[in-house]
Amino acid sequence: MGKVKIGIIGGGLMGREVASALSRWFVLDNYPVQAELVAVCDLVDQQREWFRQIPTVKLLTANHRELLASDVDVVYVAVPHHLHEALYLDVLGAGKDLLAEKPFGIDLPAACSIAAAAKASGRFVRCSSEFPFLPGAQRAYQIARAGKLGKLLEIHSCFHHSSDLDPTKPVNWKRQVKTCGGIGVMGDLGMHTIHIPFRLGWKPKRVYAQLQKIYHERPDGKGGLAPCDTWDNAMLHTEVDIDGAEVPARFEMKRLAPSETNTWSIEILGTDGGVKYSTKEPKTLWTFQRGKEQSWQRTDLGFHGPFPTITGGIFEPGFPDCFLQMWAAFLAERAGKLENRFGCVTPDEAVSSHELFAAALLSQAEKRAIELPQR
Ligand SMILES: NC(=O)c1ccc[n+]([C@@H]2O[C@H](COP(=O)([O-])OP(=O)(O)OC[C@H]3O[C@@H](n4cnc5c(N)ncnc54)[C@H](O)[C@@H]3O)[C@@H](O)[C@H]2O)c1
Repeated sequence: MGKVKIGIIGGGLMGREVASALSRWFVLDNYPVQAELVAVCDLVDQQREWFRQIPTVKLLTANHRELLASDVDVVYVAVPHHLHEALYLDVLGAGKDLLAEKPFGIDLPAACSIAAAAKASGRFVRCSSEFPFLPGAQRAYQIARAGKLGKLLEIHSCFHHSSDLDPTKPVNWKRQVKTCGGIGVMGDLGMHTIHIPFRLGWKPKRVYAQLQKIYHERPDGKGGLAPCDTWDNAMLHTEVDIDGAEVPARFEMKRLAPSETNTWSIEILGTDGGVKYSTKEPKTLWTFQRGKEQSWQRTDLGFHGPFPTITGGIFEPGFPDCFLQMWAAFLAERAGKLENRFGCVTPDEAVSSHELFAAALLSQAEKRAIELPQR
């Protein structure tokens, strides 16, 4: 079993989730690659110090170049969006493989530049999106891929949050264009909504966007108020070509969706069958059948991700589990051992997501549907 040495740049919310996933790598049953977190870089002392409790971490640094000069094989980068391009290019320039965080650059030009550098470098590069690795999401993907739903009626792919309903929630870098990007919530939540549809080959040919800015300022944490200038909610009404027909596909990304704490969902409806899955009911898959009578069937799925684990088959999966599965997919694909399993977002898919979000901005500005390039 080869051991892959992993470094993290950005030890905040997501950097810690990666540390958690790698620290329980033994949960993966009969998995072909060993992974170990060995180095962490963060500008903030307190953020770095948290990683000291992980025995395999040998290097803690505030300078990402020091991390890149070490013997890490793979680097995961989880920093604010305005830093993606520079740091991802540095990782590739240092000859390391990269698991990038979404949105893979602050905007379309940044995403194109990262994708071009990834291609030129020959390094293995993928982008993070974990929810499709949940058992229910995998079943929805397989059902759609099997193509037995009849004529497709519509597709909804959504990711909803709700904590921004509270106007006293302090501002952070995700609420400001200079650090989050002009695409706002689409950059925060959009990659999660496109992963399965794009992997099924369902790339929108046109988009009409409804974008909303709801709170324009928030507490700055110092007794004052700070501007909050990013789009908060986005509904992208699109059309995709499937089997010679134009099918409506709606992508929803919302920071203000009442009572939805972190709800990822997908619904695919056809004339003969349908499937829906939501993390609101993490073990439940709904499938539609049209027989003599029409019915929705509810199935409890249990714990069966793409990569077998020691976890009991009847247990419920959650966020840390799909995050571990995503990492398993990343390192398996890197080792040429993904086989037929579902893989992480590719640089091409990430660029296509930015094409969609850039067109959505134009659609919002001009109040019309925008055609998208078909690649
Ligand atoms: N996959 C997911 O489900 C998911 C969820 C949340 C965020 N994200 C993405 O992860 C990335 C980071 O988000 P987060 O929520 O972890 O942010 P965060 O603010 O919690 O953490 C970012 C960290 O980066 C550090 N940092 C900033 N500049 C740095 C630099 N030059 N060198 C080293 N460290 C630096 C900060 O000190 C901070 O600790 C973003 O791209 C975000 O969109 C993904």
